[in-house]
Amino acid sequence: MKIKILGLLTFMLIIVLAACGGEDSTEGADSEGENSDIEETTIKFSHVVAENTPKHQGALTMKEYIEEESGGKITVEIYPNSSLFGDKDEYQNLVANNVQFIAPDLSKFVGNNPQFNVPSLPFLFDNDEAALDFWDGEKGQEILTSLEDDGVRGLYMWPNGGKHVTNNERPISSPEDFQGLKFRTQGGQVLEEIYSTMGAGSESIPFGELYTSLDQGVVDGQENTYSNIESKKFDEVQNYMTVMNHTRVDYAIFTNIEFWEGMNEATREIVEAGVEEGTNVAREEAITLNEEAFETIKERGEVEITELSPEEIEKFRDALEPIYEEFEEDIGSDVIEAARESNEEHGEG
Ligand code: LMR
Repeated sequence: MKIKILGLLTFMLIIVLAACGGEDSTEGADSEGENSDIEETTIKFSHVVAENTPKHQGALTMKEYIEEESGGKITVEIYPNSSLFGDKDEYQNLVANNVQFIAPDLSKFVGNNPQFNVPSLPFLFDNDEAALDFWDGEKGQEILTSLEDDGVRGLYMWPNGGKHVTNNERPISSPEDFQGLKFRTQGGQVLEEIYSTMGAGSESIPFGELYTSLDQGVVDGQENTYSNIESKKFDEVQNYMTVMNHTRVDYAIFTNIEFWEGMNEATREIVEAGVEEGTNVAREEAITLNEEAFETIKERGEVEITELSPEEIEKFRDALEPIYEEFEEDIGSDVIEAARESNEEHGEG
């Protein structure tokens, strides 16, 4: 009897173990089969802004997608807040393939190609959709792929939004109010000209040094999107903000071509899809995050906010109009025309 029971138990145990073993080995074969061609690799994405911004949210989506779809074989490390590279060195490190993705403000590339001044042209785009339409179109794509000699490719435009002016000296509601003030810019000939046209000075300062520069009075003010102002707490060290929407912060996600083309097919398929997912989220989140940031700035109450009337905006448009003639040759009348056509499609007319 005892022997019979023992025999039965042993038989059942064998069945259970076989079932478990079977399950494990099937699962293992499946996941290994699916993932076997994916290269184990670590990809770095460096940027200069805070976490609660459209750029970081896009990068985060990319990371989550790629890591999940690769079954953990690909790791994406995101370095926000200039923690790996800042404005001065992120491009060189992308060229050197020390980082595989960056998404800088396009106006930071004007030294490579003056056409990257487009987001700085005063009141050019009516809204995010028009800007997106331009960068996804023929002229925008030509500009984004103009860095290929450096081994760098622009993949997709990621919007942020319209810029607004903050300063420590006075409320600004007319071009004359800029007289004698000094502003920090992202860089570029057009932004410099905007300030000098209104009798102000300007200096290009890396984003990572901006809070301290404002705090220490190196400059009186700066221009940025609500999400950058709010997430970096620039309002803490500024007294006034004018809602201007005169220029834009727009990005593109750039990669190193050697890295991009060097991935095997299975790896690249996942990374490419991850970039697309990240692009969708960056594009979807930009408007909402800026709206929320504007509300937070108002709630914090650190800056006195000036909202301009249509007549006041018209005065700024008129004052800055000559900039178009000045930069038409450098940027290209075809490029400016294409941007204006995007407004006709998506703008306010
Ligand atoms: C700035 O430098 O002010 C911004 O362009 C930073 C960024 O990447 O949004």
